[in-house]
Parts: sequence; structure tokens; C-alpha cells
Amino acid sequence: MLKEKFDLTGKIALVTGSTRGIGKAIGDALEEYGAKVVRHNTKVCELSDPSAIDAFFDKLEAEGSLPDILVANASIQAKIPWGEFPLDEAQKEMQVNFFATLRMFQRCYPKMKAQGWGRLIVVGSVNERRPHPDMCVYAATKSAQENLVRGIARQVAREGITVNNLCPGVFATDRNKEALGNPVYAEKVMNAIPMHDYARPEDAAGAALLLASDAGRYITGATIMIDGGLSLPG
Ligand SMILES: NC(=O)c1ccc[n+]([C@@H]2O[C@H](COP(=O)([O-])OP(=O)(O)OC[C@H]3O[C@@H](n4cnc5c(N)ncnc54)[C@H](OP(=O)(O)O)[C@@H]3O)[C@@H](O)[C@H]2O)c1
Repeated sequence: MLKEKFDLTGKIALVTGSTRGIGKAIGDALEEYGAKVVRHNTKVCELSDPSAIDAFFDKLEAEGSLPDILVANASIQAKIPWGEFPLDEAQKEMQVNFFATLRMFQRCYPKMKAQGWGRLIVVGSVNERRPHPDMCVYAATKSAQENLVRGIARQVAREGITVNNLCPGVFATDRNKEALGNPVYAEKVMNAIPMHDYARPEDAAGAALLLASDAGRYITGATIMIDGGLSLPG
């Protein structure tokens, strides 16, 4: 039965940034389909601090809660023109959006390899295809993540582990509240979206469930856009 392939009973899923926005919707969906979801936010583990990531994973390991499914969803972004972008801010974005993902992949991999099953999912951005002029650094961190996904996917493909990149377009979440509160900017953004609608957090849930479950077992190294067509050329 196809619906059984979506069943996540017995799986542990860690979704970073899962107390609100897209991460919450993904966490809720994985939970609805039977996974035990480890909720995460800045209070649980600050991803800008490499030692906090290892301490968090040491704790998960000690509790027997290392994830079978990792969704690296949390990120930070600053809107600053590239010529003025402070290097320390760029390094922080790279740490949270890329190095933290790499480290979490490394910490998840031994268990996934040993059991011959694992799901590594990153949340990218439409900025990989259409960088916002003031978010070149953020876009670059997300593109680095996408490249990492493809590089690792090929190497672990025979171990029952898939590695994929989910790319949101414009979602109505907290991080966009201020920008989309400006009617002139909001109209410009809306007109660029072929579907002429913002995404809702739950719009990311179905694709995440597919990638996290056996229903998606043959999808690896992929980038799936959830953007209402925003990344399409023309
Ligand atoms: N919203 C969009 O339109 C859009 C578009 C393209 C891509 N994305 C990507 O989609 C993902 C989710 O976006 P969202 O809009 O749902 O985000 P959001 O509403 O801003 O929520 C971010 C979540 O990540 C956590 N987080 C942020 N910085 C963190 C850090 N340094 N360490 C640990 N946790 C941290 C937050 O924890 P606290 O609650 O503790 O702050 C929160 O749970 C991000 O990767 C984003 O880049 C979003």
C-alpha cells in the first residue's frame, strides 16, 4: 500500500528551528505520520556555537535519540549590500546555515550507516536561483548547502541514506513579516510569483514527508523547489 510507505512509526526526526514557521509545519507533519520529533530552536541549541552543536548531539546520543531523519531547517539571514557586508556577520551566517549542517550530518551519519537507513534533508532557498541583491551572502550559504547535498548523496546512495534539498520561495513566516509589511515591496514580490500567492508553512510539509519516508526512497541529491514558480526563468 502506498500510504504505508509514508508511515514514520519508530523513526526519530530532528527538525532544527521547529518551534515556528516552516520547521514547525514540517515537524508537525512528521509527527502526524508517526515519527518522534525532536523540536529545536535557539534555546535548545544555538547553531552559531559549534561546541553547543556537539553538546546537543552528545545529549541525544546519551538518550538514545540520535535522529533517523534530520531536517536542517534553521537559518539566519541579514539584508546588507555585499560591498558593506561585515565579515564577522558573513562568518556567522556560514556557521549557522552551512557548517552547522555539515556537523549535524557528520553526527547523524554513523547511526544511519549502521542501520542502513537515513534521511538527510536541508532547507535551502529560492535565493539559490534568484539571489536577493542584499542577501548575496545568505544565498551563497544556501548554495553551499545544495552542493554539499549533491556531493554526499552520491557517496551514501548504497547505504540506504538519501540526501536532499527543499527550497522554499516566499513563505508567510515571522522572518518576512517586516519586509512584506511594506506594501510597495510586497506588491513587487507578489508580482514576481507566477502563482501570485505566498506560501503557507504547511506547503512545505508534503514534500518533506515524501523525502523523509520510504515513499521517497529513490529520490536523492535532488533540489525540490516549493516556490509557486518563482525560480522559473522568464
Ligand atoms: N520564509 C521564507 O520565505 C523562506 C524562503 C526561503 C527559504 N527559507 C528557509 O526556510 C527555513 C525556515 O524559515 P522560516 O521562515 O520558517 O524561519 P523562521 O520563522 O524565522 O523560524 C526560524 C526557526 O529557526 C530557529 N533558529 C534561527 N536561528 C537559529 C540559530 N542561530 N540557532 C538555532 N536555531 C535558530 C528559530 O528559533 P527561535 O524561535 O528560538 O528564534 C526558529 O525556530 C530557513 O532555512 C529559511 O532560510 C524561508
